[in-house]
Amino acid sequence: MTDKAHVWRVRYQRPIEYEVANCQDIFNPENDALISVGRSRDARRFVIVDENVEKYFSTQIRDYFDFHKIDARVLLFPSGEKNKTVDKFLWVLRELDKFPINRRDEPIIAIGGGVLTDIAGFVASSYRRGIPHVKVPTTLMGYVDASIGIKAGINFNNQKNRLGSFEPPKKVFLDRSFLKTLPQRHILNGLCEIIKLAVIKDYELFELLEAHGTSSIESRFQDETSASILDRAVGGMLEELQPNLFEDELARKVDFGHTFSYGLETHPETDLLHGEAVLIDILISALLAATRGLLSDPELNRIFELVDKFRIVLNDELVTPNLLWATLEERTYHRNGLQRVPLPEGLGGCNFANDIKFEEIQSACKIYAERKTNHEPIYQY
Ligand SMILES: NC(=O)c1ccc[n+]([C@@H]2O[C@H](COP(=O)([O-])OP(=O)(O)OC[C@H]3O[C@@H](n4cnc5c(N)ncnc54)[C@H](O)[C@@H]3O)[C@@H](O)[C@H]2O)c1
Repeated sequence: MTDKAHVWRVRYQRPIEYEVANCQDIFNPENDALISVGRSRDARRFVIVDENVEKYFSTQIRDYFDFHKIDARVLLFPSGEKNKTVDKFLWVLRELDKFPINRRDEPIIAIGGGVLTDIAGFVASSYRRGIPHVKVPTTLMGYVDASIGIKAGINFNNQKNRLGSFEPPKKVFLDRSFLKTLPQRHILNGLCEIIKLAVIKDYELFELLEAHGTSSIESRFQDETSASILDRAVGGMLEELQPNLFEDELARKVDFGHTFSYGLETHPETDLLHGEAVLIDILISALLAATRGLLSDPELNRIFELVDKFRIVLNDELVTPNLLWATLEERTYHRNGLQRVPLPEGLGGCNFANDIKFEEIQSACKIYAERKTNHEPIYQY
């Protein structure tokens, strides 16, 4: 029993608002977008840049801040998932602490893929109880997914994103010209998240991918049709994220492809990128949906044919009923005791399943093994 005379209730609401904006040619000195958030005169910026991005844009980045007379400390962040660690997180914090920025109006700027923007967002949420940050995704995965929401984090205890926070950015700038230098495997990796949205939410996007997906890959998303594919994917993703920013609702359409994929991409012997694991999950989930009568045979075929067209190499030796079942159990725990597995209902529709049985997964794995096409890599990893 509480003594009512000694209960104090504190209530406070903090509005969340940020923009995700297309912004071509972000390092053009005439373009002041990047420094438009926060103070832009006599100012400092702590800029975290992916080392592979720096290889191509080093001079432009430095010239940009010089031109605007901004005292910028550019920190090069090493590439890849293996660096999404507590050690690297603390290293960034130490470097940041050596460069005293004004904690209210000199946002840190994160320029890189999902690994970098996830870690930078977590740095921003932790340092001095929270400082503003701006994100500039340079991978397709970052562009359509990782950078546009508010989730930040690092891997911990052999678990992905086990430490993290929800930290809204001040702004996200989308400049698709970064994709020109992105390795082909990472273009396809990001494409998997676009396929996800198309299948579970947006039939028109699905048709666009059928008609123009291959040419978008070839142009590295530089032509105008690709721009509309990207806009549709970003808009669709944000439409799903906005009403559920803090994931109070655990049944989320955007988790389509993110159930079985978890075990596949965290397995010690995995050779799968996040999007590749998601794509395997999409195919398994589509087979489960078809068996349940949620997808017709022609609809199922269209999904498999679309994926086939893009010649994505899937290292799927780890796909076994036991591993997928163990992952489903782990995700059920993560989703508060219910499976909440998004399954496609027709193309562009969604239905959540809470009663998937081991035998269904067994049968889906068997059909998957019969149907899948093994593509030889046509590109340099
Ligand atoms: N926060 C979220 O909501 C969210 C959503 C999806 C994924 N993620 C996270 O995103 C991460 C994966 O992101 P990713 O696929 O962008 O991987 P990544 O950040 O490792 O980048 C992929 C590779 O591309 C290189 N690179 C980046 N931009 C380049 C460019 N323009 N030109 C040449 N090389 C470039 C990087 O150095 C790296 O080697 C995972 O850790 C995942 O958990 C987070």
